[in-house]
Amino acid sequence: MNDDKIDSILQEKRIFNPPADFAKNANLNAEKLAELDKKYAEDPDKYWGDLAREELVWDKDFHTVLDWKPPFAKWFLGGELNVSVQCLDRHLDTGRRNKAAIIWEGEDGEQITLTYQQLHREVCRFANALELMGIKQGDRVAVYMPMVPEMAIAMLACARIGALHNVIFGGYSAQAIKDRVEGSECKLIITADGGWRRGKIVPLKDTVDEALANGGCPSVEKVIVVRRTAHEITWDKSRDIWWDELIAPQSGKHTPKSFDAEHPLFILYTSGTTGSPKGVIHASAGYALWTKLTSRWVFDLKEDDVYWCTADIGWITGHSYILYGPLQEGATTLMFEGAPNYPEPDRFWDIIERHGVNIFYTAPTAIRAFMKWGEEWPAKHDLSSLRLLGSVGEPINPEAWMWYREHIGHNQCPIVDTWWQTETGGHMISPIPGATPTVPGSATRALPGIEADVVDRDGNSVGDDEGGLLIVRRPWPAMLRTVYGNDARFKAGYFGRFGDKYLAGDGARRDANGNIWIMGRIDDIINVSGHRLGTMEVESALVSHPDVTEAAVVARPDDLKGQAIVAFVTLENDKPGEDLENILKQHVVHEIGAIARPAEIRFTPALPKTRSGKIMRRLLADIAAGRTPGDTTTLEDSKVLDSLKEQMNAKA
Ligand code: WT7
Repeated sequence: MNDDKIDSILQEKRIFNPPADFAKNANLNAEKLAELDKKYAEDPDKYWGDLAREELVWDKDFHTVLDWKPPFAKWFLGGELNVSVQCLDRHLDTGRRNKAAIIWEGEDGEQITLTYQQLHREVCRFANALELMGIKQGDRVAVYMPMVPEMAIAMLACARIGALHNVIFGGYSAQAIKDRVEGSECKLIITADGGWRRGKIVPLKDTVDEALANGGCPSVEKVIVVRRTAHEITWDKSRDIWWDELIAPQSGKHTPKSFDAEHPLFILYTSGTTGSPKGVIHASAGYALWTKLTSRWVFDLKEDDVYWCTADIGWITGHSYILYGPLQEGATTLMFEGAPNYPEPDRFWDIIERHGVNIFYTAPTAIRAFMKWGEEWPAKHDLSSLRLLGSVGEPINPEAWMWYREHIGHNQCPIVDTWWQTETGGHMISPIPGATPTVPGSATRALPGIEADVVDRDGNSVGDDEGGLLIVRRPWPAMLRTVYGNDARFKAGYFGRFGDKYLAGDGARRDANGNIWIMGRIDDIINVSGHRLGTMEVESALVSHPDVTEAAVVARPDDLKGQAIVAFVTLENDKPGEDLENILKQHVVHEIGAIARPAEIRFTPALPKTRSGKIMRRLLADIAAGRTPGDTTTLEDSKVLDSLKEQMNAKA
């Protein structure tokens, strides 16, 4: 983050108190929030234990709240439950049986509403089918799907039978599927023939075929295919099964088994600082508890609300806040297949108006795009049903925050800027809308039960307005349990620096009012449109091209995406062939997916390195952002930097 931004954040003085009527009716008001904080401070184990007993339906009670042997935490030991029961069965005799669980809208305008009873029935049918196919507790199942109701059904059915879903975002490439499926030895892939994106077919099944070609993903026995686009696809009779044919004979009744509280619920891969993406593991009871509570506290979910989170279920935001959190609360969750600007830039506002959406949760990158498209698009629609707005994925700049408040919330809706991560399972730092005064650009305070702090290099809390590292002092139930198959990487990545304190990987500061300001990553992770990418991943993709010798990838600030990828590349032959820049960009898309496409590729005869041979990405980031490179004293050869600077001046 550049100095200008830090200054603008430090000068931010606007404070918005919760509207009085919102506070009056809120699930959590200031008093209840203070009670929770007090209870936690008095006895953390009792706090968590009581919440777990109140919120979850246990088949067998737990005997121990927390077993903490850093870095390994086990929660609610001895307890047994089934997470799909928390989401579905528990609502069937509470008057919610015929309530909409999922309202789905396809890009083409098609709509499907599944009541809790209908969703339960579909999940049971699919769970029966999976069991019949021999999928057992602990097996891994890859889900590579468009945003269709079957995606939710598939995930909940896995949870029901104790199989771990491993959702792979539908925009990822065949190579990315291969890495994730092979890395966790999935037995099965659930996909669709295709998905719709801006009127075009995304050929998901073809991409799965490519991942499985030439002996790829040898653990995969079957591929289940949902009929969505109905275009022609290749079919392997011995391996591929149509979803509809599979479930046709299945009963809508299924007796759920009880699983250990710590039974892993799912794997979700996310970018790490070094090496390949890591498979984050979440455990059943702790994850369920925290996504349920935060949905109620932060989103203030009420019985009559229509709630909409615009994320794709392929990311943790969709896992926690389209599916598991809202369904456990018995809420109505809206699921939309398409893009915000198709067919027109008012698609989201049209959806809000038609469905009477009350709570809307999206990302700063989307808000900045809406700003660019113009306020006339939301102005065409009646957005008066909205009562709460949320933001997630990256720091939200105060300008975007104010625009969101004014043009979407009409100055009536509190905004919850929620800081969290794939690894944290659920919200960690966020305003409580009926209790916390908000300030544009700050995620404000840690939620009750979360001991977030900002510390210096030695682990001491920093003073007011001083920058430092964001940590969490004690484990919380939804903390990741490990990195799939790699405890060492888990330990080094999150607990390698401050002993038993969780290192988030973000820089932050806390102001004199106690509000926390997230400053962005301190490591080699780039946040493009709220999606995390490791510089290493993009570099590996680039060097896998035969023309490339070495690559260094950095981020430069981008008005729309937050950060954009700039790659510095050295070549086998001195001169880049015609169109090599585009060829390499396309190569990265092929290796990882469109989200990783570099905004810019710069060819250079050499990369700036330290005497010990480390690439000095910091200097490259300065160059990419058009800043004067900082401290260059450790450079081995200063000429390299000079020629890069010259090149930059020539471009300008
Ligand atoms: C990283 C985690 C959590 C779901 C989406 C991203 C950044 C996330 C905020 C926010 C500032 C944020 C952080 C974090 N981030 N939310 N409200 N303010 N930064 O999940 O892909 O695991 O990325 O996203 O840098 O470490 P993720």
